Amino acid sequence: MNSLVVTGLQWGDEGKGKIVDFLSDRFDIVARFQGGSNAGHTVIVGDEVFKFRLMPTGAVRGKKAVIGNGVVLDLEVLDKEFDSLRGAGITPDLRISNRAHIITPYHIQIDALQEELKGSDKVGTTKRGIGPTYSDKISRTGIRVQDLLDATETNTWERFIKHTKHRLKSFSSSDLSVSQEDAFESLKLLMEKYASYVCDTGHFISEALTSGKSILFEGAQGTLLDIDHGTYPFVTSSNCISAAAAIGSGISYKSLGFALGICKAYTTRVGAGPFPSELDDEIGITMLERGGEYGTVTGRARRCGWLDLVALKYAIRINGTEFLALTKIDVLSEIDTLKLCVGYEIDGCELDTFPASTYQLQKVRPIYREFSGWGPMKTDDWDLMKSHGISMLPKETQRYITFIEKYTETTIGIISYGPDRSETVILNDDYLPKYA
Ligand code: GDP
Ligand code: IMO
Ligand code: MG
Repeated sequence: MNSLVVTGLQWGDEGKGKIVDFLSDRFDIVARFQGGSNAGHTVIVGDEVFKFRLMPTGAVRGKKAVIGNGVVLDLEVLDKEFDSLRGAGITPDLRISNRAHIITPYHIQIDALQEELKGSDKVGTTKRGIGPTYSDKISRTGIRVQDLLDATETNTWERFIKHTKHRLKSFSSSDLSVSQEDAFESLKLLMEKYASYVCDTGHFISEALTSGKSILFEGAQGTLLDIDHGTYPFVTSSNCISAAAAIGSGISYKSLGFALGICKAYTTRVGAGPFPSELDDEIGITMLERGGEYGTVTGRARRCGWLDLVALKYAIRINGTEFLALTKIDVLSEIDTLKLCVGYEIDGCELDTFPASTYQLQKVRPIYREFSGWGPMKTDDWDLMKSHGISMLPKETQRYITFIEKYTETTIGIISYGPDRSETVILNDDYLPKYA
């Protein structure tokens, strides 16, 4: 099967952008299938830094890029990313689903109002209008790409405004943030600018697969932020797991190939919600500083902690992850003792699954297994892995990596040891398309 689904296995920011960019060389098409401009995917190639919220990362290598129906689309962000790629000499070869839902200024307004209303229980959203846009989609009151293109012939926009005004009445501030005429005009203009890129992306991908082309599905967010399987209500509003790649791009589940899961060598989380292995000590600060753990979209400092293998195993099961990409192993150098969370204890009892209860997850005591750390490493030391595998690494690093593989019963296919595209090693390539 010439398709690969890449998803995050933690609370996002696992390095999906970096790994997708690295692998997209081997694929013809890269498609986003969920989320929107809440994502922040960073790609570093030498001196060039690309930060995408919406654009599929494969665009950097000039691959065909697809924004699927499962994505919620902010046309202003699309316009900016398009321009910045053009500025770097790249013209995106883009397809946009006619069924993707549009983020309007009112969704962004409602996102902020909802957070305000929640007060101390707020989710800490990216305030990009994600939740309200998906709510409208599910309530059957949203506005899609095709609806916007048809809007002068239909009364879709009026219906949408009527519903939005009704929704705003539930907040103390009930005025539209932008006049409906201005909002409509600017959305319509932007939509027309990108109309030639709009198509039935499900049809496009299916045809491509039939003709032997390969496709990489690029997940956004992470499994623990998934609306069904994450740490609800501290989650995003879409399904971020591999199965969503079929629904969110309009193809059969039978067309999905291998599942590659991305996981940091430690854990981070942005926004509120339970985080059992969180560190509020010097080691957490080391991870934050050395790992550059600041949000791509919001600039917020990410909360940092030990790698949680209980949560990871849960995420692997839900995604059907067959191969892992372990990222940011370099960040753990020079920490005397490392810990991996191998169990949860609550009221003296060990839990055998990842709990649905937010209350329980807040209360669990992580059970740790300790590992000796390793000393300073230079890029050259890590580079040795490229020719000799992990056997060239310090024994302590090998022990840490192989324990993760054994505990999760999942093969590590890729190790990333720095932000640059070149700082990556493929240990196993069974999940990659084989060309004759
Ligand atoms: P994504 O949302 O999953 O694409 O991840 P982000 O791009 O938001 O965050 C990951 C950050 O870590 C980015 O700044 C990357 O450049 C950086 N990064 C990715 N892989 C590595 C790695 O192996 N080592 C280090 N030090 N940084 C990395
Ligand atoms: P990438 O693709 C990390 C978090 C927000 C918040 C919650 C809900 O870069 O990994 P939302 O705006 O989606 O309604 O916010 O989800 N969140 C992310 N955290 N990485 C992301 O994306 C995220 N996208 C959303 O911080 O806690
Ligand atoms: Mg990110």
